[in-house]
Amino acid sequence: MKKISVLIALSMVCFSSLGQGLVLRQDNIDEILSQLTVREKASLVVGAGYKSMLAGQFGFKVPVPGAAGMTRAVPRLGIPAIVLSDGPAGVRIEPKRKGSDATFFCTGFPIGSLLASTWNQELVKKVGAAIGNEALEYGIDVMLAPGMNIQRNPLCGRNFEYYSEDPLLSGTIAAAYVRGIQSQGVGACLKHFAVNNQETNRFWNDAQVADEVLREIYLRNFEIAVAQSKPWTVMASYNRLNGIHTQEDKWLLTDVLRTEWGFDGLVMTDWTGRRNTAAQIAAGCDLMEPGKRSQIRELVRKVRRGELSEQALDSCVCRVLDLIVKTPAFKGYKPSQAPDLTSHAEVAREAAEEGIVLLKNEAGTLPLAAGSRAALFGVGSYQLLAGGTGSGHVHRPYVVNLEEGLSREGFSVSPQLSGLYREHIANHRPRKSFMAGMLGSPAAPEMSLSREIVNAAAAEADVAIVTIARQAGEGGDRHLPGDFLLTDLEKQLLADVCEAFQGQGKKVIVVLNVGGVIETASWKQLSDAIVLAWQPGQEGGTALARILSGRVCPSGRLPVTFPVDYFDLPSSKNFPYDYTGRGSMSGGRDKDRDVRNVGYTVYEEGLDIGYRAYQKAGAPEVSFPFGFGLSFTTFEQGEPVYAGNTVSVSVRNTGSVAGKAVVLIGGPLLRAFGKTPLLQPGETTTLVLPLLP
Ligand code: GLC
Repeated sequence: MKKISVLIALSMVCFSSLGQGLVLRQDNIDEILSQLTVREKASLVVGAGYKSMLAGQFGFKVPVPGAAGMTRAVPRLGIPAIVLSDGPAGVRIEPKRKGSDATFFCTGFPIGSLLASTWNQELVKKVGAAIGNEALEYGIDVMLAPGMNIQRNPLCGRNFEYYSEDPLLSGTIAAAYVRGIQSQGVGACLKHFAVNNQETNRFWNDAQVADEVLREIYLRNFEIAVAQSKPWTVMASYNRLNGIHTQEDKWLLTDVLRTEWGFDGLVMTDWTGRRNTAAQIAAGCDLMEPGKRSQIRELVRKVRRGELSEQALDSCVCRVLDLIVKTPAFKGYKPSQAPDLTSHAEVAREAAEEGIVLLKNEAGTLPLAAGSRAALFGVGSYQLLAGGTGSGHVHRPYVVNLEEGLSREGFSVSPQLSGLYREHIANHRPRKSFMAGMLGSPAAPEMSLSREIVNAAAAEADVAIVTIARQAGEGGDRHLPGDFLLTDLEKQLLADVCEAFQGQGKKVIVVLNVGGVIETASWKQLSDAIVLAWQPGQEGGTALARILSGRVCPSGRLPVTFPVDYFDLPSSKNFPYDYTGRGSMSGGRDKDRDVRNVGYTVYEEGLDIGYRAYQKAGAPEVSFPFGFGLSFTTFEQGEPVYAGNTVSVSVRNTGSVAGKAVVLIGGPLLRAFGKTPLLQPGETTTLVLPLLP
């Protein structure tokens, strides 16, 4: 009996000394690891579930309601939980909290495609810094952004979040964005690694891609971003790659990402339900989000049975701890809950102005004459789509639409049309719903107008602006009729407006408020000017109006090709688009069959993506090429001078107004790019640009 009591006493002493007073520091991770039990280790690599994301709906007590996820704490060793939040166009958290009068709105920045259209790394870094600051001040440790998958095909529902068809532009812009976020002491997350280029069947789709194509295109942008920005985290995608789920693909997550590229951060899953957790750990996927307790139990069981090496688990735990010790939560930062939304709105406007692309400007239609009266057509003129839907949605404090923006710039707008559209929008308010609160609401449908109304508008206005709006988002791909293609209603409206206004010698401008590429070739000859606004964030109307007025000289350039016909694109042969126009939803799998044969996409086009496809002999024309964009001034570009891994180019403003120029270097593939500062008429500058190896 005495022996047992001695043993108990000793074990009590040992146990109490286990980590007695030991707390996590930046320099004692190995010691902490040695003190952790297997269950504690397993709890560190499995997220804390959906409580944070759903707190706004169900009132869970969490630090940041609406943030996408959290890790789990181990208090006895001073290991805090950290907070992870979406998204690429701004922080996505609940704007209001039960029991508080305070608000927690976040700045709605322009979408990824517009940021890439700026071709301006410094400006994109500024956007990242503003988002990182809002994350810091709202108590978030890691931003789940940027989304940066290659825009393989225009019908991918999440292209709005992504940057480009070209890996150099995509990777470089992503890196600038990451440097901005992380300059605030908050982590960023490259997503979705990798080859997540469609939303249809996204949880199970098997992307079948040749190695050369992977390396040159679909992994290349991630490789560039890792090298140029040292992101704290990477998010593995939902899909499979050549038969293996990326989240459990050791070749991808360890051999390529870590061993070849030198990535030393943490890899997390996308918000997957339970999968083969042990295989994920063994592959080097460190954190299972959102996380389920059953995954903790699975890991403990597998380690105890010797089916998962504790060493593999330890590697992941160390990377989780490495991440935690970098975070504001670990450093005890007290968030103010009051970021400077006013100055961030200015950044959003500045980015929108530089990413809007002038596609057509016949006979100096733009800029508009001061004080012009504009007739605004299209629901999008009054209900600007500031961003896409899904986890990329942002609860913005406001959105400036085109009507308001023009009024602020001193233009008057047709009150009759405004009244009609506003009544239409009011009659089509989406029902408040849980999903809408989480992921954004659909816009009002387009409204048809009688010829009489159009003619009356043409009689009293100086110019017509027709906005074509398109929404898209996570969880579903786009389709052809009424989405990529104009609807019959839109075609009729545009034809009526052009006939009525141009018949009186008045100009017609089309504004594209879209999240992705649409068909333009069949109608672009009708209007006098075309402005691609993308989804330009909460200050989009302000930015648009400042360009239409000429206060800002457009400097955006296309990061993606606008084809003449969808089927000109080689990838159209292997994309799960929906002819019917009902839209495709992702997810789901054929439970009765081996998942390996359910839903796969063969990247048969190989390297023929975007502008690469049009360099072949006999390739069709495009409607608007990659890198295209007009200005209100003109520039002269000197011959590039190559020196080692840089290239220098002089640029002179040969026009009559100040403007910024974008320089693209390379041929046939993009090898370098840059943007000049604002050049006054006659002013010259020289850009020295790094060459992609
Ligand atoms: C989503 C998205 C991912 C997002 C995550 C958390 O399914 O694919 O981009 O960060 O879940 O919301």
